[in-house]
Amino acid sequence: MIFQQLFDTKSSTYTYVIASEVGREALIIDPVFELVETYVSLLDRLELRLVKALDTHIHADHITGLGALRDITKCITVMGERSGAEVVSMRVKEDEIVDIDGIGLRTMYTPGHTDDSYSYVMEDRVFTGDALLIGGTGRTDFQNGDPYSSYDSLFNKLLRLPPEMLLFPAHDYKGDTVSTIGYELQNNPRLQVENAEQYADIMNNLNLADPKMMDIAVPANKSLGKSIDQFVRPGESLSAEELCRQCSSGELVMIDLREKQERLRDGWIPRSLHIPYADIEDQAKSGGILDQIISDHPNCVILYCAYGERSAMALDTVREAGYDGLRHLAGGMAAWSKSGGEIVFD
Ligand SMILES: [Fe+2]
Repeated sequence: MIFQQLFDTKSSTYTYVIASEVGREALIIDPVFELVETYVSLLDRLELRLVKALDTHIHADHITGLGALRDITKCITVMGERSGAEVVSMRVKEDEIVDIDGIGLRTMYTPGHTDDSYSYVMEDRVFTGDALLIGGTGRTDFQNGDPYSSYDSLFNKLLRLPPEMLLFPAHDYKGDTVSTIGYELQNNPRLQVENAEQYADIMNNLNLADPKMMDIAVPANKSLGKSIDQFVRPGESLSAEELCRQCSSGELVMIDLREKQERLRDGWIPRSLHIPYADIEDQAKSGGILDQIISDHPNCVILYCAYGERSAMALDTVREAGYDGLRHLAGGMAAWSKSGGEIVFD
């Protein structure tokens, strides 16, 4: 496995690049905006294709690199379902899998530092964001933080992971790079408490100043950089209502770009085909499924995904491959279900 831990000195943030091997798909966790070029050149050097970028929560101390990485690499931006970020391609729930080829990360909802904090668990390691730090825990005094839910996330979830499991946090201010669940359980001063009240007492008396970047970072991280509209040309967007009207003609070919897990969870538009976003580039090549569909049904293909972000980027990819005339469902399945569009599960 390729595993790189990168550090932003300004915000003391750790960012992780993960891939199963050279030349394969990669995932990045908690990227920092200022270091996006560093990540991109690292990915280039290792011949990795960035497929997914995720934030463990909305950060208050730095601007996320998610939007910039999406704009450069057309990767899928991932956050937990409780996230207030407006522009995210994919939202994951508790106990779902974020996967790239050869690697899967299980989602664990660990609120307390913020109400949108998620940890991501691999076989031998866990990425805890700010829910659990080395020798500390994430503050609980803003962004809907709550010491009691932090206690619950720690003692009923994270600390129940195997003691030998490696712990990789989103920050460290002392130069530590890695710990284990067992070591923290024994030695982390915040965890040496008898009950939730004792823990809340510690957390409620930290008297920390707000992060310097907070007023800038939180709103910026909620909007995640540039608008997705940059990938869409005039006439390529279809609203859910328009799609509903045009659907009845039976001429349209709708292609669902989401992953299997999302389809099983949220259903899909009747009579639509399925090509996951990660396969679009390959399938648009001569002889690919998408190539065949476009040739058979020119000007009738509608791409859709969860929120309209992957489908917008796919329009750009397909255009680069030489095809025009495709459209996408603006707002994706979220807009479709809001407008009362029919959804099926089999
Ligand atoms: Fe944080």
